[in-house]
Amino acid sequence: MSTILVTGGAGFIGSHTCKALSAAGLQPVVIDNLSTGFRHNVKWGPLIEGDVGDRTLLNQIFLEYPVAGVIHFAASTYVGESMSVPLQYYRNNVAATLNLLEAITAHGSPPLIFSSSCATYGIPVGPLAEDHPQNPVNPYGWSKLMCERLILDTAMAHGLRAAILRYFNAAGADPDGELREEHDPETHLIPLAVGAALGTRPPLKVFGTDYPTPDGTCIRDYIHVSDLASAHVRALGELQGGSPGFIRNLGTGRGHSVAQVLEAIAAVTGRPVAHELHPRRPGDPPALTAPVSEEVSAGLRFPGLSAIINSVTGRLHDA
Ligand code: UFG
Repeated sequence: MSTILVTGGAGFIGSHTCKALSAAGLQPVVIDNLSTGFRHNVKWGPLIEGDVGDRTLLNQIFLEYPVAGVIHFAASTYVGESMSVPLQYYRNNVAATLNLLEAITAHGSPPLIFSSSCATYGIPVGPLAEDHPQNPVNPYGWSKLMCERLILDTAMAHGLRAAILRYFNAAGADPDGELREEHDPETHLIPLAVGAALGTRPPLKVFGTDYPTPDGTCIRDYIHVSDLASAHVRALGELQGGSPGFIRNLGTGRGHSVAQVLEAIAAVTGRPVAHELHPRRPGDPPALTAPVSEEVSAGLRFPGLSAIINSVTGRLHDA
């Protein structure tokens, strides 16, 4: 069974990917400092509690396990927070990725999959295809773009095969109920809005109703986290099958406004989403949707808001 090192495997997308790796017959080994992830999410292989910035620990892991691939999720991921503590973002994201790349190249350069973001594009000046100019508007986006550069240069110089996956809005939860989204504090629209509908959270603050969109609220491309997870397993297979590497948007190709999300939640739960109208949240672009390749859209098992919302409400009812 091939061993895949998963950094940040105790987090939201990382843990769902570990489940998908295991289902595909691969053995995830997680390194996570548990700063935002949870020990109980690591169910499909060992957890090494530690930091990707710890080079000694990385060397030990590469010596102990026959690592056949690396998936690098570990990162700080809040756009707003990155504006107030940028150096923390550059250390956790950029410096740690540099450290990881040094360890990877020192240990045979197994293929690498990197969690990047549509935040690397900045304000859209056209469809956000993979060749759209990258001009981030916050330190989080810059940190991810710097990591992309580090990886591309390493690939060029050392023959590392790498896939850079740019996520749009990850949402939903494991349909089997083994995992869920549990950020603390939660800032994401769908869990907050579902909680507002079910009465487990306060009324949702709708940030901005005067955007240049059809209903005035922001549009995002929400992709089910289990579909994101499967896309990592496929990307790994492509790299292990000899692909030299690629950059790929991971979205569904369809955008939904905040108002449409609230309508969909009301339709699924049978309860209106209690909400209040607030001013815009700083740093929010009006619309971010992914033109996605045929292979990405063909791989979606849970397209559409209903599947996402059902997977979230199912867990909340069980909790
Ligand atoms: N929103 C609200 N009220 C809330 C929370 C969100 O109205 O309480 C709105 C936001 O203003 C935005 C939309 O819902 O228009 C989606 O917001 P999220 O916070 O759920 O997601 P973001 O699009 O802000 O962030 C996501 C990822 C980031 C990534 C970013 C890229 O969570 O990690 O996309 O732009 F960097």
